[in-house]
Amino acid sequence: MVIVVHGGAGRVAPELEEAVLEGVAAARDRGWRVLAGGGSAVEAAVAAVAYLEDHPLFNAGTGSALNRQGFVEADAAVMDGATLGFGGVAGVRDVKNPIRLAREVLDAEPVLLAGEGASLFARERGIPAYDPAALVTERALERWREARRRKVRGSGTVGAVALDARGRLAAATSTGGLVDKPVGRVGDTPLVGAGTYAEAGLGAASATGEGEYLARALVAFRAVAGLAELGPEAAARRALERARTLGGEGGLILLATDGRFAAVHTSPQMSHAWRSPKGEGAALS
Ligand code: GLY
Repeated sequence: MVIVVHGGAGRVAPELEEAVLEGVAAARDRGWRVLAGGGSAVEAAVAAVAYLEDHPLFNAGTGSALNRQGFVEADAAVMDGATLGFGGVAGVRDVKNPIRLAREVLDAEPVLLAGEGASLFARERGIPAYDPAALVTERALERWREARRRKVRGSGTVGAVALDARGRLAAATSTGGLVDKPVGRVGDTPLVGAGTYAEAGLGAASATGEGEYLARALVAFRAVAGLAELGPEAAARRALERARTLGGEGGLILLATDGRFAAVHTSPQMSHAWRSPKGEGAALS
């Protein structure tokens, strides 16, 4: 069994480093508890990501980056490597935990639900409407104002990859997207193989960073496919280099079917945490 989580690419202010590391470690522990209790890789990855969605310091769920009009439009996805099942949601405005909605989509026929349709589906599945204003934190507002003043676009995203006791692999990712993004913009996170991918016999990957470039490079799929010939570190690096040649920075967590894993980034920093039978840790590298 293995779980690896990330708390997003991008620079972390020194005064927040400790809290960010505690956050990814706690998310890892949530996921590990599911695995240790006999739960599936999908449920473990979703539990880890849901924890980070509820943590206001991370760009997903509560605390998400705000779009150009100052509200949250969330993207999330989960993929089950055993079945190649995929559940994605995009541009969701009124759900507390978008990853739990993506988990519901995984069990339904569509691969990706967007906007109003995603909200309707949430209600059908018993996920209540959540006040969009409650997703907006003071910190996210500050970052949004700063982004608009300086015309810069911070990113960040959270994700998890897991290998369960039965050898099944899963990947889950959730994000508010880029700060000050156009209304309706969808990033790499909920697109199959772009920000989220898992395939039995190969591996599972969750990406973070500049979605337009990560999507065009299909980084998550590229990294997982690369495991057929390379180790996790080299496969992740090669996938991210492809995005960099297009002009974008980011990070990846990549878990191979044999339990080896890597956390690699071309962005200035990325927080991550891991646990396997060999040990556990958390790092901001
Ligand atoms: N990587 C997250 C996004 O660009 O939306």
